[in-house]
Amino acid sequence: MMRRFATMLTTAALALGVAMPPAHAQSAPPVTLTPDRPAAPAPAANGQDARLERGRYLAIAADCMACHTAASGKPYAGGYAIDSPLGTIYATNITPSKKGGIGHYTEAEFARALRQGVRADGSHLYPAMPYTSYALLTDADVGDLYHYFMHAVQPVDEPARQTKLPFPFNIRLSMMGWNALFLDNKRFVPDAGKSAQINRGAYLSEGLAHCSACHTPRNMLMAEVGSQKLAGADLGSWHAPNITSDKISGIGGWTDVEIAAYLKTGHVEGKGQAAGGMAEAIQNSLQFLHDDDVAAIVAYLRTVPPVRAAGQQKAAFSHGSAISEEAGLRGMASATERHSLNSGAVLFSGYCASCHSASGAGSTGQAYPALFHNTATGAETPANLVSAILFGVERKIGKEGAEVEAFMPRFDQRSYVQSLTDEQIASIANYVLKQYGNPAVSVTPAYVAQARSGGEKPVLARLPHFIVPVGVAALLVLIALLVWWRSRRQSKD
Ligand code: HEC
Ligand code: HEC
Ligand code: HEC
Repeated sequence: MMRRFATMLTTAALALGVAMPPAHAQSAPPVTLTPDRPAAPAPAANGQDARLERGRYLAIAADCMACHTAASGKPYAGGYAIDSPLGTIYATNITPSKKGGIGHYTEAEFARALRQGVRADGSHLYPAMPYTSYALLTDADVGDLYHYFMHAVQPVDEPARQTKLPFPFNIRLSMMGWNALFLDNKRFVPDAGKSAQINRGAYLSEGLAHCSACHTPRNMLMAEVGSQKLAGADLGSWHAPNITSDKISGIGGWTDVEIAAYLKTGHVEGKGQAAGGMAEAIQNSLQFLHDDDVAAIVAYLRTVPPVRAAGQQKAAFSHGSAISEEAGLRGMASATERHSLNSGAVLFSGYCASCHSASGAGSTGQAYPALFHNTATGAETPANLVSAILFGVERKIGKEGAEVEAFMPRFDQRSYVQSLTDEQIASIANYVLKQYGNPAVSVTPAYVAQARSGGEKPVLARLPHFIVPVGVAALLVLIALLVWWRSRRQSKD
């Protein structure tokens, strides 16, 4: 998921970066505004240990590990491959090795990489590295992160694989153009009218944990739409729902306790479960946040202006109810459906009912959740229902060695005994939507096929490669015209 998000961003970046003329390199305003830290980290023997502990905590909250550690690689040694339609981008080795990593970085250089996307040698990073969110980080937090990476991370001398994109995207200077458009190089500024807790939540959500990177919709140029903050966005084949304070379209109808439980465990009875990118964010990062930080995020989410989807009447979690076991077993199907092995009812009883029960009520204790009063089946989009069937659910919660796993098998793989065709998945999804979920939503086999191949591509990624340079040329002409028009207007004034 991370991967897909980065892909979209990178595509946009590359296409646009090349389009824009090199711009002024803004320098950061020298503000140091550290939001209140409600609780001191675990008691430590001395100040040094406390600083390392703070840095470690920040690295987890920012989920640096997600991208900078390859599947079975050493921590932070890089190598994780991020696919972009223009080539593969590898996250680099950020261990303190002078040979392979960032051991030679000064704190100022580290800060510049994190918040402005510029390496020690002056070259520009691709925005697959989320420096647009990290730009908000305070100097104190960047300092603690630096201290942690330099002193507590095991050095690895082997450099990560080199990123080699084809011309013209290998010209890193072109990222300056993208930055001029999209990098709001401002540190976090606390809102004096809001409580310390809400400010802390805003800092965590917008900066470190970058919720908006997934939950805020983007425009055609892949920039986040400010007026739609956290109003929900497609992420490949998944959908990051609206988490504004709206009672119907957002999470205004969830209690504080429910939202906090979701962020800590990814599972709330009668509301929803976390799969896809949210499962990753919870497993690697959010579950380890201190309770007061989670409470701060919840308090902040309450202040996010409500965004109501046009025409939506009911909250996603309020749809559906159990059907009787007997009706469920018989398939409660129409006469034609009953005789077909591919009817949704028959497939559901064969592939899903063993866990979610024939009535759809799930198991006692809800380790296998009910499919009604579930945001995946009650949403205005079938994305998370279809993606859960295709890719399953996998989420580990708890300390290493004592994790509890939520696991639903995936049904998209030919090699598995349980693999389902696009038609079969569409039938099951339609049955589930009609019986337990939002009956106004339906799924076609073509929709499933698209989800299987990663969902709808962003406009920029759908353009054939040869069009990109043409578009770039057109944009350059447009910009030249704009500049000319503005200068003419100014000279008239
Ligand atoms: C979403 C993925 C992602 C996350 C999360 C992420 N990074 Fe990165 N980072 C990258 C990629 C990809 C690159 C290399 C980009 C390139 O080659 O232009 C990179 C490059 C860097 C560099 C430049 C190193 C060099 O000289 O090449 C530093 C420093 C860095 N990241 C630190 C961090 C820290 C610290 C965090 C957590 C606070 C973090 N990153 C989180 C993807 C990520
Ligand atoms: C990597 C992308 C990603 C990030 C980062 C992310 N989310 Fe999510 N989020 C998702 C997806 C996808 C879902 C849907 C999960 C599902 O239903 O299986 C989701 C679901 C949720 C839900 C449940 C909503 C519902 O209607 O079911 C809440 C609440 C939520 N996220 C809050 C947050 C907060 C707060 C943050 C930041 C602290 C955050 N998310 C960061 C992708 C993300
Ligand atoms: C082996 C048991 C098992 C089977 C079989 C199974 N599921 Fe699940 N399902 C789960 C578990 C476990 C979860 C996640 C619980 C959690 O996250 O806490 C889940 C979650 C879900 C969700 C919520 C996903 C989300 O992203 O919010 C949906 C929808 C779902 N299942 C539908 C189905 C359908 C339809 C089938 C049949 C094709 C099916 N399941 C088969 C165990 C199963």
